[in-house]
Amino acid sequence: MKNTIFKTLRDDHEIQRTLADKLIDTEGKSDERDLIFRKLKHELAIHADAEERFFYKPLIDADLTQGKSRHGIAEHHEMDELVEKLEETDMSSPQWLPIAKELAHKINHHLDEEEHEIFQLAGKILDTAKQEDLGGAYLEYIEEHRIA
Ligand SMILES: [Fe+2]
Ligand SMILES: [Fe+2]
Repeated sequence: MKNTIFKTLRDDHEIQRTLADKLIDTEGKSDERDLIFRKLKHELAIHADAEERFFYKPLIDADLTQGKSRHGIAEHHEMDELVEKLEETDMSSPQWLPIAKELAHKINHHLDEEEHEIFQLAGKILDTAKQEDLGGAYLEYIEEHRIA
């Protein structure tokens, strides 16, 4: 059986959850904090990009999924803003961790909402062949853009 779009998105959501957990465990200005932050920033960017192309794009035209698609895309922008705020804040500052926690909270909320709300509705809009086509296209795009 081929990878459906749901499977490929879920796999990458797990990567984000793990990195977000690790990020809020870091302390002060350190190579570890810097590395995890860069990895998370990259994962968030390529995932949102590919997810908007291969998941939200076909869903935003359907009445059933338009509202939740717009909401999901708006949350991608909110996460981008928190990433920018972290970049503008000195990593050694006590302000850094609370913003990182806000980002981790937002990520967890967003992924749970996608998996528990829009995935169910999307299953009614996308037939099995389409789910597999989109999964393949998503994966190909991610593999092309992910920096190891
Ligand atoms: Fe998303
Ligand atoms: Fe997602």
